[in-house]
Amino acid sequence: MSSVSSAPSDAPKLAPFEEAHPFKLTETPNAGWKVGDGLSKTPLGRDWKADEELGWKTWDMAQTSTPDATQILNSTVVPRPIGFVSTLSAENYPNLAPFSFFQVVAYNPPIISLSFRLSPRQPKDTRENILATKQFVVNLISEPFIEAANATSVEAPADVSEWDISGLTQEPSVHVKPARVRESAVSLECELFQSQDIFPDGSTVPSATLVLGRVKYVHVRNSVLRPDGLQADPAKLRPISRISGVTYARLGEGFDMKRPEWSDVKSILEEQRSCPE
Ligand SMILES: Cc1cc2nc3c(=O)[nH]c(=O)nc-3n(C[C@H](O)[C@H](O)[C@H](O)COP(=O)(O)O)c2cc1C
Repeated sequence: MSSVSSAPSDAPKLAPFEEAHPFKLTETPNAGWKVGDGLSKTPLGRDWKADEELGWKTWDMAQTSTPDATQILNSTVVPRPIGFVSTLSAENYPNLAPFSFFQVVAYNPPIISLSFRLSPRQPKDTRENILATKQFVVNLISEPFIEAANATSVEAPADVSEWDISGLTQEPSVHVKPARVRESAVSLECELFQSQDIFPDGSTVPSATLVLGRVKYVHVRNSVLRPDGLQADPAKLRPISRISGVTYARLGEGFDMKRPEWSDVKSILEEQRSCPE
């Protein structure tokens, strides 16, 4: 049986997925960094500096084709979280699809954003459903069901449910009518807050629609919560993000860095100015 989730056929032979791949905290890339140091003084920093000799490639975006702009922006603004969005059509037909133009934009009130890229060839059912019903659920994707989530991005005929394709489970929501994904560790029940169509210069046909959703109700699996009962533990959440093309990424390592206090930075700057090296 063919697999819809396998890598492209021209892909090189890949290492197997490592299930036991715990997210761990490490030191920062240059643990000895001091105020004013700039680029890391490690070999990594020296190589990065040496690369400057190769210069920069630039694009005037007014002269850049949409396919090129897509490749440039898609591969550079990374990693992107992925909202796995459940909606109902005006006729109550369920829909499920992933969207990586997704972010939190405010805490008070809690607002998230989604953006739909539109083509006259195929409308985005999720967009139509949100504009029609004003309700949706954004589920977060974790490693154990990434293939199922990816499969829902298929351009299926309107009478085929992506839920059936995915094999994932519809769990009733509390505040909105669309179901949440039971397998998701995190589900955000949302109501439409605002939408904004985006038009190419001189066109009256939108090329994208930005949707802001007000988060009304949140579900987080107990098993991914930290002891504080509020924050998710990335090692347990095992989130998946989107990077360029058809590539996804998982979390490998992270490092903690405190936000500097101005009083500390100020005194270091004063000290450096009074006795330069
Ligand atoms: C990981 C991933 C991220 C995606 N992100 C977006 C996105 O941000 N915006 C968009 O319009 N389409 C995005 N797509 C494509 C949609 O998922 C795809 O067009 C889907 O068929 C839309 O389903 P719908 O018509 O049922 O809404 C993405 C696809 C994948 C696999």
